[in-house]
Amino acid sequence: MTNFNTATNYTVPSHVPAELVNCVDYNNDPALKLDPYLALAPLHDGPLVFWNPLNTRHDGRGTWDVARASYMREILADQETFSSKNCAGFSALIGESWLMTPLEIDPPDHGFYRSFLNPLFSPVAVKKMDERIQARAQELIDGFKDRGHCEFISEFARPFPIAIIMQLLGLPIDELDMFIDWGQRLLHGDTIEIQAQAASEIHLYLKDRIAEKRRAPQDDFISYICKTEVDGRRLDDGECMGICYLMFVGGLDTVASSLGFQFHHLATHSDHRQFLLDHPKKIPAAVEEYLRRFSSVTTARQVTKNINFHGVTMHKGDWLTLCQPSTSVDPLEYENPMEVNFDRRHRHLAFSFGPHFCLGSHIGRRELNVALEKILSQLPNLRVAPDSQVISHGGAVFGIAHLELQWDT
Ligand code: HEM
Repeated sequence: MTNFNTATNYTVPSHVPAELVNCVDYNNDPALKLDPYLALAPLHDGPLVFWNPLNTRHDGRGTWDVARASYMREILADQETFSSKNCAGFSALIGESWLMTPLEIDPPDHGFYRSFLNPLFSPVAVKKMDERIQARAQELIDGFKDRGHCEFISEFARPFPIAIIMQLLGLPIDELDMFIDWGQRLLHGDTIEIQAQAASEIHLYLKDRIAEKRRAPQDDFISYICKTEVDGRRLDDGECMGICYLMFVGGLDTVASSLGFQFHHLATHSDHRQFLLDHPKKIPAAVEEYLRRFSSVTTARQVTKNINFHGVTMHKGDWLTLCQPSTSVDPLEYENPMEVNFDRRHRHLAFSFGPHFCLGSHIGRRELNVALEKILSQLPNLRVAPDSQVISHGGAVFGIAHLELQWDT
């Protein structure tokens, strides 16, 4: 990992002391391709809040990065001091002004949106989606089950959650490949131009769908938010765009990433696999531990006033990076953090904390549980194909890009 001040070509703001500078490239460091969690582990031996000049995405200067889970929780709970406005920045990338809603909206306005969105993502609402989730998972498994092998990421981990989101939004499933391509270019495009092009294509596509569903509403999510009245008014086009865009991005890489890490671990640990085959009731606990051990999301906040945070002077306008792949294996928070332990009771931060706690957590959990139940029972002797290369990656959502699995038929 490029860290501990080995990079040289950068400047730091005058309020940042030299001993707190640490260069970490969460996107391109070659070590991320092997094991991103191992690559970030040394961060826990350095300052737990440090200035990372390589994180220039927000304002070109770098960001404060946090390697301690309890600090991260503190920051996520305090939206008055740490704002999430523009934290994703996709609309700014294409010169638009709508915000990814409700993620980029601070309280109290944030509560307005959550109040009508929460019921649509409640456990009761997700129960109604269960049949579709099960059917979609089975359909994908049937596509490779008798073959004895598959490339798990492209044949299951990516298409499964995107199909569920598309069904929820009311978008035609035959456009699935286009959505997968957009997601890849938006979140993993090599250049900012590639990402902006994808951001723009998604924007134009959703704009047309919103206009269409305003004209002729159907029984789906986009139609619902187009026609719903909250506090005596309808949502405008910018608000509908911000919500739909976030639905698309929110459920895209997150579930795929969790599936990739989860099944890579199972395919390489026959003891864990056998344990879950013998004790299927432990599957929900296993999913929680996998979410903890392989937390994948990196998010951001902006400091709203000059503060001293655990001895570190932060200025109004400074950006912070909250990298879960680092905090999820914080040894100060979790005993033997790299170990996968299905009996662990400690709460994890995979779905965030505070007001922006993941709106889709019940859908995400259900998808992960269904995948584990179905795949494990139908392909019990799953393993990584010999001589194949497992490739992982960093970025806004860490994940596995390529995973070839095999089983006996
Ligand atoms: C394993 C799966 C998932 C993980 C790990 C995950 C993770 C997260 C995290 C960390 C945040 C908070 C980001 C922040 O505080 O800046 C978040 C927020 C959010 N997620 Fe998820 N997510 C998952 C699945 C989903 C799904 C399936 C959907 C959509 C159906 C979704 C929709 C959202 C939305 C709308 C928010 C914003 C909530 C708010 O700002 O109030 N997520 N998610």
